[in-house]
Amino acid sequence: MQKAGMSGFLHLLYVSAQLSGWEFLTGNKTMCGIVAYVGHQEACPIVIKGLKRLEYRGYDSAGIALMNGEGLKVFKKKGKVAALESELAGRELHATIGMGHTRWATHGEPNDVNAHPHYSFHRKLAIIHNGIIENYAAIKQALLKKGHTFQSETDTEVLGQFIEDIWENNGGTLEEAVRLALQEVVGAYAIVIMNEAEPTQLIAARKGSPLVIGVGENEYFFASDATPIVEYTNDVIYLNDHEIAVVKNGELTVVTLNNDTTTPYVQKVELELAAIEKGGFDHFMLKEIFEQPRSIADSMRGRVNAADAMVQLGGLRDYMDKLAKSKRIVIVGCGTSWHAGLVAEYIFEDLARIPVEVEYASEFRYRNPIIKEGDIVIAISQSGETADTLAAIELAKSKGATIFGVCNVVGSSIARATHAGAYTHAGPEIGVASTKAFTAQVTVLTLMALAAAKRKGTIADSLFRQLLAEMESIPAKVERVLQAADKIKEIAYIFTYARNFIYLGRGLNFPVALEGALKLKEISYIHAEGYPAAEMKHGPIALIDEDMPVVVIATNDSSYEKVVSNIQEVKARKGRVIAITTEGDTNLPGMVDFTIEIPKVHEILMPLISVIPLQLLAYDIAVMRGRNVDQPRNLAKSVTVE
Ligand code: F6R
Repeated sequence: MQKAGMSGFLHLLYVSAQLSGWEFLTGNKTMCGIVAYVGHQEACPIVIKGLKRLEYRGYDSAGIALMNGEGLKVFKKKGKVAALESELAGRELHATIGMGHTRWATHGEPNDVNAHPHYSFHRKLAIIHNGIIENYAAIKQALLKKGHTFQSETDTEVLGQFIEDIWENNGGTLEEAVRLALQEVVGAYAIVIMNEAEPTQLIAARKGSPLVIGVGENEYFFASDATPIVEYTNDVIYLNDHEIAVVKNGELTVVTLNNDTTTPYVQKVELELAAIEKGGFDHFMLKEIFEQPRSIADSMRGRVNAADAMVQLGGLRDYMDKLAKSKRIVIVGCGTSWHAGLVAEYIFEDLARIPVEVEYASEFRYRNPIIKEGDIVIAISQSGETADTLAAIELAKSKGATIFGVCNVVGSSIARATHAGAYTHAGPEIGVASTKAFTAQVTVLTLMALAAAKRKGTIADSLFRQLLAEMESIPAKVERVLQAADKIKEIAYIFTYARNFIYLGRGLNFPVALEGALKLKEISYIHAEGYPAAEMKHGPIALIDEDMPVVVIATNDSSYEKVVSNIQEVKARKGRVIAITTEGDTNLPGMVDFTIEIPKVHEILMPLISVIPLQLLAYDIAVMRGRNVDQPRNLAKSVTVE
């Protein structure tokens, strides 16, 4: 059916959009960072500084558009924002309006040409974009037929040309053209557009990809998240999906794709500048590892009181009954968040006696999972923007599940998509490798399990009280582990040039082994595998020889004796063992090559402590190998592509 008033050209695109189905509508998105400014200050330094703050989102190329009396100028460069900065050095670039982009390539290799911003065909517009335009090929074909040519391989350039084409042919305003174009677009986007004819105008829109507007004194900031904005203003608007924001002559208006005017909700963002700076550490990752005593305490603040035997999670208060009565919990997440889910599986089953399944969100979304009434789905995500996790949520929702979120980023897409949830309050995590987010996730999930167990009556009062008291002691114990940083560095030095690593753990320390291996591989590029210790003899033991370092988490818990047997199996094959042991263990030091001692804690809470030395080991090895630990190759902080 043709929509009323739709041109043949638009109709063609509309049909292709309809055919593409649900999958596209839930948001395959790219990472990338967006920042834009319009006001009375110099735009260039604001945009460049903002891009540096957003570089964790993607860092294979960067670009900037600036506009002054000499027109709309675009500069872009392959590589990090620093390369763009060198390109701009020495140029007179005075402008009070500008926008920039740092890219994580999807369409087209990372190079100068594919970097954003992109000019439109007649160069009346420039556009930056975070997302994927799924039907860009159909739009491109239609534009090619009309004689358009393209500089880049990107979907973004296609969108810019499409908007300009509608604008030129419809004779209306640019805002209308943006609206009409976006009605035809299938996929996800956050975009900002500059218009050469309007030197005070920025137009932005979002669907499925975050966009925050900072409201200053006669000035506006647009960004993918609040980090580039907070040093100028704490007043922000989180643009909603299907909304278009237009700033012109200092006035902001927001309309929906259906052209209904909406009143934007200005809220205070509580983000301190210090939280997004390195604060004297060499890397964000190291800072974030060392922040864990505080971030774990923050994730418990107001939620636990051992003296009163109280545990509560405000965001879940109205849902606690549902959680306690649930027949099954399905946990979805990716990467480190999935590992936190595995830890939670042990704890929920042990304490609350609720069956738990933990699924990679990317697998869950593509099968036909059985979700029954009364099932609870817990989605775990640091960024709150992970495309696979978001899609898993939508699928579970469509099957009638109640969805809880465990997210770090306030106001993120996952936080908004879930029925209820608990923030982890770990503060901004900038290093690409997740550290403090993991321990905060495990903390919050443990509190959820304790609260559910208490309500169900499946936990003895004495154990409940003991665990609450021990939870309160965790920050100080993490602090003690951090004091072993120098010793861990010495061990790291010895293994800097290892080519492979195996990590072993049992019970709750099995997910920690997986997490230790992931940390090492993603930042040092050493191949590492995590295994349940007992699984080793079913295959991986064939790899063990004198060149194979094996990290074994051998803390003094219910599986200690078994783990010691596994260590002996490794030693018998000349493997080199680094054991994470409990303070006071006199047995293992004589048996293994190196030990790293950690304080004793109830085994339910052990992952919060045992993961810390593994984070430090990975960090030190990566630094010694000269890797860029905060921005490892091929990775980005929010994985918003599927
Ligand atoms: C590993 C890491 C990734 C993320 C994963 C999920 O250090 O950072 O594996 O854990 O991409 O991201 P979130 O938690 O943002 O959904």
